[in-house]
Amino acid sequence: MNRITEKRSLSSAAMLMKVDAPDIAKRVKAGQFIILRVDEMGERIPLTVADADPATGEVTIMFQVAGATTRLLSMKEKGDYIADFVGPLGEPTHYDGATKACVVGGGVGCAIAYPQAKALHTMGIPVDVIAGFKTKEAVMLEDEFTAACDNLYITTDDGSYGIHGFVTNQLEALINEGKGYDLVIAIGPIPMMKFVSKVTEKYGIKTIVSLNPVMIDGTGMCGGCRVTVGGETKFACVDGPDFDGHLVDYDGLMNRNSFYKEMEKAKDEHVCRIGLHGGHHNG
Ligand SMILES: Cc1cc2nc3c(=O)[nH]c(=O)nc-3n(C[C@H](O)[C@H](O)[C@H](O)COP(=O)(O)OP(=O)(O)OC[C@H]3O[C@@H](n4cnc5c(N)ncnc54)[C@H](O)[C@@H]3O)c2cc1C
Ligand code: FES
Repeated sequence: MNRITEKRSLSSAAMLMKVDAPDIAKRVKAGQFIILRVDEMGERIPLTVADADPATGEVTIMFQVAGATTRLLSMKEKGDYIADFVGPLGEPTHYDGATKACVVGGGVGCAIAYPQAKALHTMGIPVDVIAGFKTKEAVMLEDEFTAACDNLYITTDDGSYGIHGFVTNQLEALINEGKGYDLVIAIGPIPMMKFVSKVTEKYGIKTIVSLNPVMIDGTGMCGGCRVTVGGETKFACVDGPDFDGHLVDYDGLMNRNSFYKEMEKAKDEHVCRIGLHGGHHNG
């Protein structure tokens, strides 16, 4: 059991929680994630470690209410307990000789992009951030990103805040300005990662994406998170979640994720008559 030590809202769509998990706080590196179960009856879901403080033993998660489990989690308050909180899982991000980086986040993917910017900034590698959102209401982590990068560019699809347009347009404009990035890290919806990778491929810039297939056990045993990268089958939970953005089969990943969507929808709409909540497709 892990205690929630802080809870606050980040935007109209996202929430931050700090959880007492000293062993994870000591060992976690940027790019890694945890798998949690809100209660003994719940399903397991993966969430990226957004921040960690080895001194206090607190691990920060940031999440969007996407369905049954994240909704249940959002109803927990400071002082409440989470049944299981397991990690750190996955491979840490390898920055391999980067000298100037651009981190591109889309929507709630910004929660996953934030620790990347912070890690690069802490290592002294110049880093710009492009954070894209649908509208002003969805903008989050502006102060945190400002403190963790050299230049922050916020874009909104509808122009209600920051630069009007998509992150890909801003990225290409900055590359053409001569920013000289030799590493781009893109995290967000699958189409966004696909199109960022198409832009950077044109300019020959190394690109890392963080993939989000449905995960079940998080140990490489169930095969639920399999993705095709460079024609080979990989398991995102143990081989990733980071992969070379120019080698990922994004269309295959979108197909697999949409396969689960109907199941998740049915589970979310299900009203249990025997006193249990939610579903247990992966619990
Ligand atoms: C490595 C990794 C890191 C992630 N980090 C974050 C994060 O930091 N913040 C955040 O908001 N979200 C993150 N996600 C996505 C998050 O796991 C899903 O939003 C969550 O599982 C939704 O569960 P739900 O029951 O609330 O919604 P559901 O209604 O069950 O699902 C909504 C959508 O979430 C996805 N999803 C559902 N179950 C899983 C699962 N077990 N594994 C992966 N995706 C699932 C599916 O695309 C689904 O259509 C991450 C996913 C992965 C794989
Ligand atoms: S989640 Fe089961 S193999 Fe990755």
